[in-house]
Parts: sequence; C-alpha cells; structure tokens
Amino acid sequence: MENPNKKIIFSGIQPSGNLTLGNYLGALKNFSLLQDEYRCYYCVVDMHTLTVRQDPAALKERSYALLALYLACGIDPEKNVLFMQSHVPAHAELSWILGCYTYMGELNRMTQFKDKSKRHSDNINGGLYTYPVLMAADILLYQSDLVPIGQDQKQHLELARNVAERFNNIYGDTFKIPEPFIPKQGAKIMSLQEPDKKMSKSDTNANNFILINEERDIIMKKFKRAVTDSGNEIRFDEAEKPGISNLINIYSAVKGITREDTEREFAGLRYGDFKAAVGIAVADELAPIKEKYEEFLKNRDYLDRLLRQNAEIANGAASQTLRDVYEKVGFVQL
Ligand code: TYM
Repeated sequence: MENPNKKIIFSGIQPSGNLTLGNYLGALKNFSLLQDEYRCYYCVVDMHTLTVRQDPAALKERSYALLALYLACGIDPEKNVLFMQSHVPAHAELSWILGCYTYMGELNRMTQFKDKSKRHSDNINGGLYTYPVLMAADILLYQSDLVPIGQDQKQHLELARNVAERFNNIYGDTFKIPEPFIPKQGAKIMSLQEPDKKMSKSDTNANNFILINEERDIIMKKFKRAVTDSGNEIRFDEAEKPGISNLINIYSAVKGITREDTEREFAGLRYGDFKAAVGIAVADELAPIKEKYEEFLKNRDYLDRLLRQNAEIANGAASQTLRDVYEKVGFVQL
C-alpha cells in the first residue's frame, strides 16, 4: 500500500523536439533518482507545445517518444505516474482560474516569453504569454513539494509559488508551496559551439547539441569539435573559460562528482584528451538509454495501456484539488 505521507514531485518536459543532453542532465537524470523517496508525477506536457506551431503527426510521435524515453531513463511506471497533460482536463481548468490571479506585470517579466517572442516574432500568441500560468497549474494541481527542473525554469517556478501564496492568502490553505530541485552541475548545460548560450533542442546548428539518442561516433565527433578557450588549463571559470567550464559541468554531472573532482582528475592533461574523455563518458551514459528507448517505442500497445491507467490516477489526484478550488472561489457544486 502506497505511503500516503510520501512527499510529492511533479515535473514535465515538452515533446517539442528531440531531447538533448541539457534536458537529460538538467531534469531527466534526476527524475529516476528521486522515485523511491517521493511520489512522482512525470508529465509529457503536450499542451505547452502549441505555443509554437507544431506538425500534428510529428507531435503525436514525439509524445510517444518522450514517454518511451522516461521509461528508458529508468523511471518505474509501477511507482510513478507517467502521463500526458492533455489527458487530464484539470490542467486547463485550473490554468483559467490561476490566470485570474496572475498579474500582467508578472508575465511581462518572464525572460522565456521575451526570448521566444524574439525567435517567433510572426507568432506571438496568447498561449506563449500565459504559458507560465499553465505550468503553475501543472505543479499546483498535485500539491507538489518538489519540482526537478533546470535553471531556465526557475523563474516560472517562482511565479507558481507567488500565485499559490496569493490564492492561499485570499481563500485559506489550498495549495502546497513547491520548492525547485535544481542540480548543481547539470542545471545549465551550454551549447558546444557557442558556450554563452544554452544547449537547446530548437537550435538550428546540430553541432551545438548532443541528442539523448545520438549515435556514439557522432557524440565523439561533436565533443572533439567543441569550442574550448585560450590557455591550456582544465579549470572551472565560467567568465574566462566558458567552453571548458561547460565540459567540466557535463563530465561532473554525468559521473555524479563535483567540479573539483573533475579538475583533479584531468589536471595537467591536454584539452584534446579531456574532450575525448567527456565524449566517452557521455556516450557510455546514453548508450543503454538509447537501446531501451528503441525497445519501448516499438511497443505502442504497452504505452497506450500505461497512459490509460495513469491518466485515471492523475485525474483522480488533480480533481481533488480542482474541486477544492471551485468550492473556495464559490462555484456551485453538485
Ligand atoms: P523544457 O521542455 O524546455 O525542458 C525540460 C527540462 O529540461 C531542462 N533544460 C535544461 N537543463 C539544463 N541545461 C539545459 N541546456 C537545458 N535545457 C532544458 C529544463 O529546465 C526543464 O527542466 N516549461 C517547461 C516544461 C514544464 C514543466 C511544468 C516543468 C511544463 N510544466 C511543470 C516542471 C513543472 C519546459 O519548457 O521545459
């Protein structure tokens, strides 16, 4: 019998492109690490992707692919709730309510909105603007204690906390106030060619990122080509040595060691040798995931069964919070 006092985790990833090493080290790798201690809800946040134009057939494929990847990363579907956001209508319903308690001034400050508006200037839609409200609904619906995310989502989580506190202040305790869980080394993996910008699945230059299901020889090649800095010391210094610092972060996060450990391990070695070692570490980490991922992806019936079961569990949990919210705001309940 499930321990009802277990703390709760919620996190989500958008099925909006092939996932990168950044998504893995910033978020996914931690998902399975926390699954014994917490009750975890891991969501494929398909509704979020529509803020940018999507091809419907590709979106469907990528949604299954992300579910298969969750499983391949070792997330146990018996212990965790793995589901699609669009299978739980309460996300959209709570999002509407929370939108009425979120100020435009707050949404105007969101850096991701500003960045994405620049990149998609032909499609600055309402969803892109209110996206953080839907994310707040995702998290607050499940009374989450902890939210594993990379650095770039921290501002959105802070907004979710502020909105939850505001609502609680007006109506009394309704939402748990969630904490972020941001890994030390993997929180902000940068581009391999342009280490001053984030590694991103939407990057047009494939040499900038490593995909989670990338072939070994391509991984090795991309690390070999990774930009380093002048000098020859393998030392962590983000301002002076952004390229090497990024590689130190990657190696440390993959191995689960500190930056200092990595510096010690490679002291006196040449950049070229270090880059090859990082390539091997990453390829070794990702190879078994790729293999399992392909296995899971083949088994559509299993994935559908899992989604059906888990949608029911997620709907059960979410509808309790939504009911409480509807009661508090004064909607007639039958
Ligand atoms: P998304 O889909 O862009 O990214 C998924 C996760 O990967 C992290 N991440 C990175 N971490 C380290 N280095 C990088 N270069 C890097 N790139 C991405 C992100 O921080 C994220 O944790 N809005 C979210 C999805 C979301 C969500 C939620 C997350 C929707 N609802 C509720 C948590 C809780 C997003 O777009 O992540």
